[in-house]
Amino acid sequence: MVAAGLVLILVAIGAGVTWWKFFKSEEQQFASATEQFKYGSLGGEFLAGIPYPIFMILPRVFPDLIDGPGGYGAFGLAWEEGERLPVGMSIKRKGFERVTVNCAFCHTTSYRLTPGENPRFAVGGPGHTVDVQALLRFLFAAANDRRFSSSRLLPEIALHFEMDWIDVALYKFVIIPATRKALLIAEDQMAWMETRTDWGPGRDDAFNLPKFVLTQMAIDDSVSNTDFPALWMMGQRDGQLVHAGGEATTVASVIATSALGAGSFPGTTFDERNDWIEAYMRDLAPPPYPGDIDQVKSAAGAEIFARDCASCHALDGARVGTAIPLSEIGTDPEHVRAWQQPHADRMNRLTKTLGIDEVPLQGAKGYVARPLISVWLLAPYLHNGSVPTLEDLLSPPGERPKVFYRGYDLVDLDRVGFVSSGPEAAAEGFRFDTAEKGNGNAGHIWGTTLAPDEKSALIEYLKGL
Ligand code: HEC
Ligand code: HEC
Repeated sequence: MVAAGLVLILVAIGAGVTWWKFFKSEEQQFASATEQFKYGSLGGEFLAGIPYPIFMILPRVFPDLIDGPGGYGAFGLAWEEGERLPVGMSIKRKGFERVTVNCAFCHTTSYRLTPGENPRFAVGGPGHTVDVQALLRFLFAAANDRRFSSSRLLPEIALHFEMDWIDVALYKFVIIPATRKALLIAEDQMAWMETRTDWGPGRDDAFNLPKFVLTQMAIDDSVSNTDFPALWMMGQRDGQLVHAGGEATTVASVIATSALGAGSFPGTTFDERNDWIEAYMRDLAPPPYPGDIDQVKSAAGAEIFARDCASCHALDGARVGTAIPLSEIGTDPEHVRAWQQPHADRMNRLTKTLGIDEVPLQGAKGYVARPLISVWLLAPYLHNGSVPTLEDLLSPPGERPKVFYRGYDLVDLDRVGFVSSGPEAAAEGFRFDTAEKGNGNAGHIWGTTLAPDEKSALIEYLKGL
């Protein structure tokens, strides 16, 4: 009896300790809404959290699996000085500290105006340098490496983090093996991405992720590699289609499905958090064009814009926020092909089952003509990021660069976009080949037949948008 009682007490203590070590939750505190957007959790710790100490020491243990020096810097993440993790990563204690990504991970722009300066960060802008696929490949390669073991990782963790004997035991027997296992399962779930066009920095396979991972639909050969768009001034988008192919009719649906994709699980906090994100994005302002704008030229450009572009891109344009059919827009069709009504139906059944009551998604209808906001920071252009500068977009498709480098963060203020050729861009950037499936740079021929001085005036006007 006594022995049994002792065992029970020990189990009870053990359960208490493990409960505390595994689940005790600490609320995050932020000084401002912007800080919360940059570093706040979406609540995905249990489904998608990586223990912070493991995450931090991986580049030290596996430097050979990263292309270039500087650890996670190699993946183009927006790392602010003095912060424990890059913008878009949250550290939240659920028992132990767990790292998850949030919206700002893909939706924050890193850029420089001169080669000598430190990167600047535009919250809510396209994360054109962020190479999610390369980061995933690194984590998967590490999990497959025999160095991913308690005997190799634990001493490295103990070197940097204070641990008591319970922590040591938990990491050794549970957390390290479980993290490895979880990464291997994730690799299996993502195996399809190795059979098609690379995402490269600034993109992911936006609709094959929910198709193949969330709803487990049969793997087909589609490619929907899509640029991370900006989340600025989303309040202007009421009543418009959202997502590159117009797959959503409300911003709230996009937030709910994006949060789900990041491992967040529906419930009260899910709804409250998503409402907060929506309110935050409503009037999130982009940085203005940082160069000089020639007002006379810009005024001439405004007239051309009103004549040739405003119907689709001005806030009061008749077709703004609608999907322009493929036959008319002529840009790469793969994203539209990848997500049709049956895919949306299946996704809608899943979200409904999970208790998400947002407006359902629909099949892609063409490509949405978005209102143009801070277009100077949106390069490379078009939904698949296949055209490096505004100057190139206003050139006939046959004259646009067939191969260029994307993900280099130096702004080209004249041609408007990022520097996408030359030795620096080649060294820092990702070689983008428009011949690959889903990377086509054709279509959107408006403005391509203007005279050179008209194009230059139009670009001058676009700088100020
Ligand atoms: C892993 C990268 C990633 C993360 C994390 C992410 N997004 Fe996105 N987001 C994308 C991509 C890629 C697209 C483009 C897909 C499309 O529009 O077809 C996109 C599109 C959007 C759009 C559509 C914008 C428009 O103009 O059509 C909104 C809104 C959005 N995301 C909000 C969010 C929110 C809110 C979160 C966090 C809950 C989030 N995203 C997290 C990659 C990401
Ligand atoms: C009939 C509607 C229509 C007209 C007219 C039109 N566009 Fe577009 N525009 C679109 C659509 C649709 C897209 C998205 C296409 C895609 O991503 O494949 C787009 C994309 C763009 C983009 C890229 C935005 C980004 O985030 O990558 C720019 C810049 C742009 N248009 C500028 C212009 C200019 C300048 C004109 C006038 C010379 C113009 N457009 C005329 C429909 C139009």
